[in-house]
Amino acid sequence: MDQARVLELIRRRQPQHTLPRELYTDEAAYRQDLAQLWHREWVFVGHTFELEKPGQYLALTIGDYPIVVVRGNDGEVRAFHNVCRHRGSKVCTQASGKVAKLVCPYHRWTYDLDGKLLFAGNMGEGFTPGDYPLQQAHCALLDSYIYVCVAETAPDFATFRRAAEPFLAPHRLANCKVAHESSIIERGNWKLVFENNRECFHCEGAHPELLNSFVENLAVAGVAGAQDPELEAFWDRCEAAGLPSRLAMDEAGQYRMTRIPLAKQALSYTMDGRPAVSRRLDAGDEANIGALLYFHYPSTWNHFLGDHALSFRLLPLGPSQTMVTTKWLVHRDAEEGVDYDMEHLTRVWKATNAQDRQLVEDTHAGVASPTYVAGPYSTAAEQGVIHFVDWYCAMMEARLSS
Ligand code: FES
Ligand code: FE
Repeated sequence: MDQARVLELIRRRQPQHTLPRELYTDEAAYRQDLAQLWHREWVFVGHTFELEKPGQYLALTIGDYPIVVVRGNDGEVRAFHNVCRHRGSKVCTQASGKVAKLVCPYHRWTYDLDGKLLFAGNMGEGFTPGDYPLQQAHCALLDSYIYVCVAETAPDFATFRRAAEPFLAPHRLANCKVAHESSIIERGNWKLVFENNRECFHCEGAHPELLNSFVENLAVAGVAGAQDPELEAFWDRCEAAGLPSRLAMDEAGQYRMTRIPLAKQALSYTMDGRPAVSRRLDAGDEANIGALLYFHYPSTWNHFLGDHALSFRLLPLGPSQTMVTTKWLVHRDAEEGVDYDMEHLTRVWKATNAQDRQLVEDTHAGVASPTYVAGPYSTAAEQGVIHFVDWYCAMMEARLSS
């Protein structure tokens, strides 16, 4: 299936319906998702506080591109293609670590943290190390969020940063540490993973733990910016406390920020609704600030609460495999066993992730059947999914037809 065929499938989509099967399952359609989106857009990779010291790095693969993100001796965070300039081996083979230099394990070519080649053995006369630095990828910061773009020319990031920064700033994410991290591989197309995230129509039946604190109709109103007196009062109160809360999204629909109230009495995503962490992240004295939600297609959604925050990162591994990495973020001075109990902190989202994974895998398996035909989304409960699929189709159509 070539570019023209993928374009035809995109154009064949009925409005407010799920996508044609091949767009979820076909290898060539997946190649186009990589070429047109994942290899061209900004992708969330990790947090600045994970790279606190020079030499700390995160390695990951964005589509076809192995990447390493490392803090230099000058304090800069840089992204490099994790591809040795000798014979192409990955230089960093672990997902994270701390090194003095970036040393390729194959023949020990040694790079400085700014990518410069410092040492290459046995190369003989006339070899100029300066000609072989690691190749850089685009790297941009939004608060504590590190984004990378592997395209030659990266799209604008400043507009997104300007819009999102005021929402993130009061949560003081730079003061965080990762209390817990999980990476799961879901046997489903990345679009099914994001579709599942963009609605809570399934929450009632699927997420008993989450529903102790999460209220579907308030969340739906919050993400839609609906006229709802309870929501308005909540937004007024939070904004008076210095926390931007009212729905904001860009015209193209790639990102959105909004704050939603939680269930009555609930202050956090825990089984009993009580905060999981005794040290708050934000500086305000407003106890009940609900959850700030922010997503940026195609790679991330996030929840910020008063006491902790959750970041989620998607990476596509193939047409039917997606890695979902969740990080539970707490104040860097919060001590496990003193300020938080790990089980209390992580139980709800560990359970929710496992449930969502099952939903995605079952959906992928059904969509892969030759009998599958595109079905209608609920315009009342699945507006978020329609929004995501519309964004996907608009981006793909524009790029495939240009
Ligand atoms: Fe890296 Fe040879 S491939 S040193
Ligand atoms: Fe879910």
